Amino acid sequence: MGFLYSQLIESWRLPYPNTNYAGQTIVITGSNTGLGKEAARHYARLGASKLILAARNVDKGEAAKQDILTTAAKGVSIEVWQVDMASYVSVKAFAARIESELDRIDIFHANAGLVRAEFAMAEDNETGITVNYVSTFLLVALVLPKLRSTAEQFKTRPSLVITSSGAHRHTTFPQMEEVNILAAVNDRNYAGGRYWRDRYPISKLLGIFAVRSIAKEHPADTYPVTINLVSPGLCHSGLSREAKGMQKIMFTGMKMLLARSTENGSRTLVDAGVQGPESHGQYLEDCKIAEPSEVVTQNPDVQDRLWVELKAKLEGIQPGVTANF
Ligand SMILES: NC(=O)c1ccc[n+]([C@@H]2O[C@H](COP(=O)([O-])OP(=O)(O)OC[C@H]3O[C@@H](n4cnc5c(N)ncnc54)[C@H](OP(=O)(O)O)[C@@H]3O)[C@@H](O)[C@H]2O)c1
Repeated sequence: MGFLYSQLIESWRLPYPNTNYAGQTIVITGSNTGLGKEAARHYARLGASKLILAARNVDKGEAAKQDILTTAAKGVSIEVWQVDMASYVSVKAFAARIESELDRIDIFHANAGLVRAEFAMAEDNETGITVNYVSTFLLVALVLPKLRSTAEQFKTRPSLVITSSGAHRHTTFPQMEEVNILAAVNDRNYAGGRYWRDRYPISKLLGIFAVRSIAKEHPADTYPVTINLVSPGLCHSGLSREAKGMQKIMFTGMKMLLARSTENGSRTLVDAGVQGPESHGQYLEDCKIAEPSEVVTQNPDVQDRLWVELKAKLEGIQPGVTANF
């Protein structure tokens, strides 16, 4: 009922972005297409000074840039930077470029994400877990110093928005019963593979736990950056591109009946960037703070254990990086 109400009624109420972004620098990963691209189009229309479109394929990013420029305000500078979230080396190189070439970041959208149709590893995790979770939080940790220095230098409160998903509600997360939760999440044969369909929901669920852990350690009143999560709702985009057979028929049918346009869904991303300190550590749906699933709210011990496991993983990738949280 909540999902249907959101898709059929709330979709008509999502505020059309109208903030003036003059002087601001905004970075969006996964912005060569889909929700990230439409969010970038809003920022360009609303006069952001500098927009960094982060894409794994620079040609696709350049094509998006040319398209966005047709509706951009005068004087907006748009650059396409390469990042492949399936590679830790690429994430680190992208973050190093941010550190050396940008003098400020006002809003950072960690938006790149994917749904895999088949099991495949990237780095030391299943691909979706690497892209949607581990690399996303590696990037968050690596860019936070720039957002913090922006806050201090320009006396502002930057935002870091992670694109989450209502799909996180679709799993009971049986792996949380295991001693090493992330090892179970990455186990191809966990429960005989029965939980394959849970992988994308779990990749988004893990992100919600992580943001809550950051906010638990660093509440809004002692932290200069707002970090929140946004669920855009079910939207038209390329996200289900790998679906085949029954999965494809199901996705196509659901989208035809219920999906938001990509532009409509992108409003939720832009809105999350201006929500401010009350939204720190929170999950947003339909441009409002919402309760995530009970798997999240009823299991603070799992949240704490996952935070220890994630930080250990990130330290293995770049020693010292978790001090940035
Ligand atoms: N559409 C929905 O209904 C929906 C609902 C809830 C949440 N979301 C979330 O919204 C975000 C945006 O997705 P979308 O719906 O706009 O889908 P999309 O059209 O498929 O866009 C996804 C973006 O992420 C990029 N990406 C994927 N893997 C990457 C990698 N390894 N490195 C760098 N970039 C990568 C894609 O680049 P390429 O073009 O090169 O593949 C693309 O730019 C995702 O986090 C998704 O989980 C979407």
